[in-house]
Amino acid sequence: MASEEEGPTGPDLKAGIPATDLPDGGMIAGHVEGEAVLLAHRGDEWFAIGAACSHYSGPLAEGLMIGDTVRCPWHHACFSLRTGQPLRPPALNDLPSWDVDIRGGMVRVAAKRQAAPRPTRRGRVPASVVIVGGGAAGDCAAETLRREGYAGPVTIVDPDPDTPYDRPNLSKDYLAGNAPEEWIPLHPPDFYEEKEITLRRGPRVATIEPRARRVILSDGSELRYGALLLATGATPVRLPELESGSPGVHYLRSLGDSRRIVGAAREGGRAVVLGASFIGLEVAASLRARKMEVHVVAPDARPLERVLGPELGDMIRQVHEEQGVVFHLGRKPARVADGRVMLDGGESLPADLLVAGVGVRPDVALAEAAGLSLNRGVLVDERLETSAPGIYAAGDIARWPDPHTGERIRIEHWVVAQRQGQAAAHGMLGLDSRFDAVPFFWSVHHGVTIRYVGHAERWDRIEIDGDVSARDCVVRYRRGERVLAVATVGRDRASLDAEAESEAVGFGG
Ligand SMILES: Cc1cc2nc3c(=O)[nH]c(=O)nc-3n(C[C@H](O)[C@H](O)[C@H](O)COP(=O)(O)OP(=O)(O)OC[C@H]3O[C@@H](n4cnc5c(N)ncnc54)[C@H](O)[C@@H]3O)c2cc1C
Ligand code: FES
Repeated sequence: MASEEEGPTGPDLKAGIPATDLPDGGMIAGHVEGEAVLLAHRGDEWFAIGAACSHYSGPLAEGLMIGDTVRCPWHHACFSLRTGQPLRPPALNDLPSWDVDIRGGMVRVAAKRQAAPRPTRRGRVPASVVIVGGGAAGDCAAETLRREGYAGPVTIVDPDPDTPYDRPNLSKDYLAGNAPEEWIPLHPPDFYEEKEITLRRGPRVATIEPRARRVILSDGSELRYGALLLATGATPVRLPELESGSPGVHYLRSLGDSRRIVGAAREGGRAVVLGASFIGLEVAASLRARKMEVHVVAPDARPLERVLGPELGDMIRQVHEEQGVVFHLGRKPARVADGRVMLDGGESLPADLLVAGVGVRPDVALAEAAGLSLNRGVLVDERLETSAPGIYAAGDIARWPDPHTGERIRIEHWVVAQRQGQAAAHGMLGLDSRFDAVPFFWSVHHGVTIRYVGHAERWDRIEIDGDVSARDCVVRYRRGERVLAVATVGRDRASLDAEAESEAVGFGG
């Protein structure tokens, strides 16, 4: 996975390359004293930063340069070519940067730069910030506040003893046994202490009092805030009618949930996954990687058809079937008893392990009790502020006015939640914080990754470039003349291009 693990490739950039080898707008990966370095050329300027993305080590040289920034082809993080700083999640950590010398027609990467000191932000900033939920949005907001030089107290409250961690990995490499638990935290343990971010893990926020600007925690303590971020995420939809059966039903949202599934998985055992959702199918793939027999039961005619359409739905089914997953589509579970799942059609499946991935509901109870405006999520304005001044909402719970579709949307994607956390933090500090990112997500099935930009709840036409069955395609979802969203398989650069295009002109034609 990490290109660094294979050792840096390409030219020795300390020795240099002829300037004519890299035209304006070009990027090349090389190395300097054993480190992988990206050399980029834009106009009269040359830049050198680390070549491997600080998220999962994606190859930045295969990404997209826009002005003095570069975007990663894997999950669309964006870095400053001038400083190596991550400008947009999912990358959270700086890349190193180097000086570049141009002499005698040669370009050489010279001294490594010192990290720039962080600014200190003064002026009209909140006296303190409380963040409810240390997931994607909450963690990124805290980190952004410090990155932008906010010096006041920042507290994250979360009942989860393990938070903050890389939630998408819980159904993928971690569950498959390919990622050790040390990789799961978003930061090393001393990061929060160093940044003076207080992590209150254990209690939950029980009540918000917007007028008094304070929250009451489940352990009875209280915290006053100047600004508050609500980022409580979502909870899996449960199937109570099946919960008393044996085997019990597992749900997957937290690291604890994933650990319990790992603990119950046995090579050669039989697993039944309820729901052909992204999470359900990723769980199916990971349990196959653990050499379990895996059956997927879902009411749909095709997996993921409502999100991706019939062509990609069929492709996903084929990818799973090739790896031995057995589908029972058009079926619902009726009962679980004595180690079997009985389906509504009369069939019964033996099961040592049962996992349900049948959707999630946004966790809006706190917001509702605090009297915030809701409409299938917490309503926020374009700066992610709720109906209560000083209270922001981000991530799976937030329904925001999307400038690209002109509609209010709520989306359950990791990168969207992180970028909203970043925007909410900017808003608290009075910085430009209009949230106008084009939604992006990815999902991995037995090594086949789907990348998706935009948002299409309904479409009237699907346009396909390439060959879906060869897993090499760009799929456009259109309503009338408008392109609402673009999914790609095996064409990472096309996904970046679609994102950039839609930012520039909006999804529109
Ligand atoms: C297994 C899995 C795999 C996924 N894979 C992908 C993927 O591949 N790509 C993708 O784009 N998205 C993926 N997602 C979705 C993505 O993880 C979510 O969209 C994202 O985490 C939402 O971020 P958030 O900050 O809104 O909520 P979360 O990350 O869920 O964080 C919310 C936090 O709030 C805490 N909380 C709740 N109530 C309270 C309270 N009262 N007081 C204090 N804290 C509270 C919770 O404990 C939780 O830690 C996946 C999700 C799961 C579960
Ligand atoms: S590896 Fe670069 S964004 Fe994930």
